[in-house]
Amino acid sequence: MQPSILKGTHGAAHESARGHVQGTAEYVDDRPREARELTVGLIWSPHAHARILSIDVSRVQKWADRLWIFDYKALAHNTWGSIFQDQCFLAQDVVHFVGEVVLVVAAEDPAILSAALKAIRIEYEVLPAILSIEEAVAQQSFIGVERTIARGDWQKGLETAPHRLQGRVPIDGADHFYLENQAAIAYPRDGGILEIHSSTQHPTEVQHLVAEALGLPQKDVVCTVKRLGGGFGGKETQAALFAVFAAMVAKVCQRPARLVLDKDTDMMITGKRNPFQVHYDIAFRDDGEIVALDALLYSDGGACADLSTAIMERALTHVDNAYFLPAVRIRGQVCRTHIHPHTAFRGFGGPKGVALIEQAIEAIAHHLRLDPYDVRLRNVYRHPHRNTTPYGQVVEGDALPVLFETLAERCEYKARRQQLLESADPKSPWLRGISMTAVKFGISFITRFLNQGNALVILHQDGTFQVSTGAVEMGQGVQTKIGSLVAAEFGVDPDQVRVMPTQTDKNANTSATAASSGTDLNGSAALVACRPLKERLSKVFAALIDLDPELWPTRTIGPGTQADMVWDKPLAYPVVFEGGRVYAAGHPERFLSLVDVIREAYFNRVSLSEYGFYKVDGLDFNKVTGQGNAFLYYSQGTACSEVIVNRFTGEVKVLRSDILMDLGRPINYDLEMGQIRGAFVQGLGWVTSEQLVYDGQGRLLTHAPSTYKIPSVHDIPRDFRAELLETDNPRTLHRGKAVGEPPLLLSFSVWTAIMNAIKVSSLPIPASRERILRALYPDTFAKWEKAR
Ligand code: MTE
Ligand code: HPA
Ligand code: MOS
Repeated sequence: MQPSILKGTHGAAHESARGHVQGTAEYVDDRPREARELTVGLIWSPHAHARILSIDVSRVQKWADRLWIFDYKALAHNTWGSIFQDQCFLAQDVVHFVGEVVLVVAAEDPAILSAALKAIRIEYEVLPAILSIEEAVAQQSFIGVERTIARGDWQKGLETAPHRLQGRVPIDGADHFYLENQAAIAYPRDGGILEIHSSTQHPTEVQHLVAEALGLPQKDVVCTVKRLGGGFGGKETQAALFAVFAAMVAKVCQRPARLVLDKDTDMMITGKRNPFQVHYDIAFRDDGEIVALDALLYSDGGACADLSTAIMERALTHVDNAYFLPAVRIRGQVCRTHIHPHTAFRGFGGPKGVALIEQAIEAIAHHLRLDPYDVRLRNVYRHPHRNTTPYGQVVEGDALPVLFETLAERCEYKARRQQLLESADPKSPWLRGISMTAVKFGISFITRFLNQGNALVILHQDGTFQVSTGAVEMGQGVQTKIGSLVAAEFGVDPDQVRVMPTQTDKNANTSATAASSGTDLNGSAALVACRPLKERLSKVFAALIDLDPELWPTRTIGPGTQADMVWDKPLAYPVVFEGGRVYAAGHPERFLSLVDVIREAYFNRVSLSEYGFYKVDGLDFNKVTGQGNAFLYYSQGTACSEVIVNRFTGEVKVLRSDILMDLGRPINYDLEMGQIRGAFVQGLGWVTSEQLVYDGQGRLLTHAPSTYKIPSVHDIPRDFRAELLETDNPRTLHRGKAVGEPPLLLSFSVWTAIMNAIKVSSLPIPASRERILRALYPDTFAKWEKAR
């Protein structure tokens, strides 16, 4: 079958689009201030590792009746952690990273609060700190055990293949840079209920942690999330901390309590993308075909486990990326340091695994003087013999060779590369490079139990709908997509469906909106709920259509003559819901309006609400053996980027990027395109300009956009094209594929294009200007270092 490009069809507008543009979309801190509301501030450790010697509050005594100060003793339970319970909400005796919160302070008057934050003195005894992966490895300071995925005789492969290369890629972290910082407001409500409004990707975890920390039953805590101004993984676990602090103040003071971080504080104290050091030992044939790989990944988990072991797991399962590795060993170990606990960030561990293999392929091509594209194509997963991952999952629906070949043709990769080689001008300050990379991203939480979702679908008598799920809207458009799915199911306009704020009293025991699975899990649960509703309405339709309208329940209710209509008979024919109408398949002329059917159903005592539950079947990955089906399916794509690099300043400009993805049948083309471009640009920032600089004592120096360079409109590719392959995905109810994270990994095409431009076979991430210059002029830098 000839691959074809999907023609874009416009979907419903993002439900917050107008509000975003007009500034009316409400975020946590936009909630109006209530009478007696308290503002909450934090006092946190300025040291990476230290013992608390004394806390002096004498200088705030004058505000004693207007100030509340809390330490860990205020909490019923002070430890937490999504995987390992190794983190304190409030420091107890020893602090383990810069930013660990020691005291929570609250006041009605913000001026008193800020004066008090400055006046409280904490004396510390500084202890030795581990501040890098190298130090942690030397001291065997680890979190969790070493994990391995292996298959085949990789040792023999390494020893006998014609070529062998070893390398190391240092990969730095990155800040999430969500525009809305961490925020929570807690309200004590009638009867002892605590109502929490949190900027969290995981309302259920906030509910549970608030309850546990404060010694409340879970029934007495409700967490509500309307929308986030970005999460990107940074609010999957870490938002809970701030919600707990606000809740603690609200409970003790019996007043509303608001805790909103400013950007500098947020950047300094919250965790980032885990830095990694990845090592490879790779063997290959003359044509670039990989024979064996031995890979070792270390990550900096920071001071607490957070999600780092799960992130490592995703890194290990993504080292293969788009490529078949016949014999392989992949090992991973999370290190414990004295840095803020690192956490989820778009792609989770995936990008770090993928960076390893894409870098190794660059090294192979460099070594053999081959076009890296040819090396990639030689190794790409292919049906039927070269399509099993190192963890034993078969790559079903492998679109990778087609994606590579189709995109290469559409963007004229070969001709442009040739032209670029021929036109290289030794006098120009600009060096040009072009490169193609791929992504194959596993969709499912590898932790099996998280792959579940539930939804409540309510039909109202005017033919409009309310849908509630556990999905959190963080800009990605999940609510719009879920609304569109329900609308399509009932054949109504998407604006007939309202997706309600996420709230734990309607949808409990939910997973974080993460792993790109928000629509798959929650949208599927909503579809599951729609089906019995449709079944009931279909039967009502079948009864009504054969009944004289004068005998319909609504018409007979007044006189009191109503008898129950016989509607619960097996359906003799399929019923279609389309354009606000209901009819028997094949007979669109004999229709009833959906509103009529719904209303008659109500008066005939037919339930108009339904709760749906969905779980992903067929996942059997075994964490101990490192084998099994880890994912329901893969979202796949390729990208080609062309860059110019200034050889005097290291400045990079991306001239053009082309992206081609397989996303099955998209639910909302425009939203998917927004995710593709947004994720790509976010990754572009990480691999080129965003550099976290610490002061050597574990303090982040780059904690504002003035020193931490996120991409601006000037940095996006001058010519930026994205398209979808026309495909299908039988694995989801909606036949689409998850899009949230995968395209971020396509920004590696920019990273490898820089390597191509400056003719080196490796670069750290980010490939900052300084690092580009260091790679261009290693001798000069060595001389300077010596002279220092
Ligand atoms: N898009 C926007 N605008 N804002 C975000 O915070 N987070 C990303 C991605 N796209 C994010 C985003 C991350 S890390 C994930 S896991 C997914 O969205 C989560 O949402 P989904 O599962 O509904 O795709
Ligand atoms: N992705 C994002 N968040 C997660 C995951 C994952 O794979 N597993 C647990 N939390
Ligand atoms: Mo996304 S890193 O899974 O929140």
